[in-house]
Amino acid sequence: MKYGKLYGVGVGPGACDLMTLRAVRVLREVPVIAIPQRSRWDESVAWRIAAAPVGAVAGQERLFLTFPMTKNPQHIAPAWDTAFTQIGQRLEAGKSVAFIAEGDPLFYSTFIYLHQQAPTRWPGIEIEIVPGVSSISAVAAVTSDPIADGQERVAIIPASYGLDDLPDILERFDTVLLLKVSSVMPRVVAALEKADLIDRAVYVSKATMADQKIVPDLRSIRNDRCDYFSMVVVSRKHRNGVLAGRGRAAVGAPRKVDMDSSLLTAER
Ligand SMILES: C[S@@+](CC[C@H](N)C(=O)[O-])C[C@H]1O[C@@H](n2cnc3c(N)ncnc32)[C@H](O)[C@@H]1O
Repeated sequence: MKYGKLYGVGVGPGACDLMTLRAVRVLREVPVIAIPQRSRWDESVAWRIAAAPVGAVAGQERLFLTFPMTKNPQHIAPAWDTAFTQIGQRLEAGKSVAFIAEGDPLFYSTFIYLHQQAPTRWPGIEIEIVPGVSSISAVAAVTSDPIADGQERVAIIPASYGLDDLPDILERFDTVLLLKVSSVMPRVVAALEKADLIDRAVYVSKATMADQKIVPDLRSIRNDRCDYFSMVVVSRKHRNGVLAGRGRAAVGAPRKVDMDSSLLTAER
């Protein structure tokens, strides 16, 4: 059977103009856009980002699919059954389907399960990924604190899935990015205080969205239930953005680059 093509399209972290030209083009060309949302009443964040740049497209279907926010596979299974049926009907009719994702589609995204299941459900299906600007890049941009340079090592932690090894991770990595922190802020703040890194951390919610928030003093929000779209960045190393001059950075000065030999030859 010749199926339509399946796209995973990243729409970026929030600001519409951080969508790529390719994402906009694909979303204007496909006959079906599949739009994940948490419930029938919650607006899809990915669609909120993409709706204006994509605009009205005659004859295009916008297929809203509900995926409840739960870690329990039994609760999410019926949602996936519906999604596979709905998407499958379109693909089997030869229509291409673009499934949108906030940020990048292959970085902690609902699309990843569809991507994994698609070749078994629709053998021979063509899949194309349109990468998006991820929340990691967005948070670095709005704080102006580089993520990593030279030999520095980075850890990315989905904090809501467990923090028991956080003290160890904070010792072993130069930068630690804690995603999904909204429900575990008290534990994050306690671990950072214990590691003497509380002043080397910054909280960012909704980076690049209209209501973006940057909080350098994590203690001030330690008991808050924070926004789902929020991240804590911890860096031991010298930084020149929001983290500049705060706490004791492990390395005092930025690396010296020999300008004569040009930036191209400097090992970065
Ligand atoms: C399910 S993951 C989605 C990641 C997304 N696919 C990406 O590429 O960034 C959701 C988590 O990403 C982080 N996140 C996503 N967008 C963000 C934003 N605009 N600002 C801050 N954190 C964000 C938060 O930690 C949030 O809990």
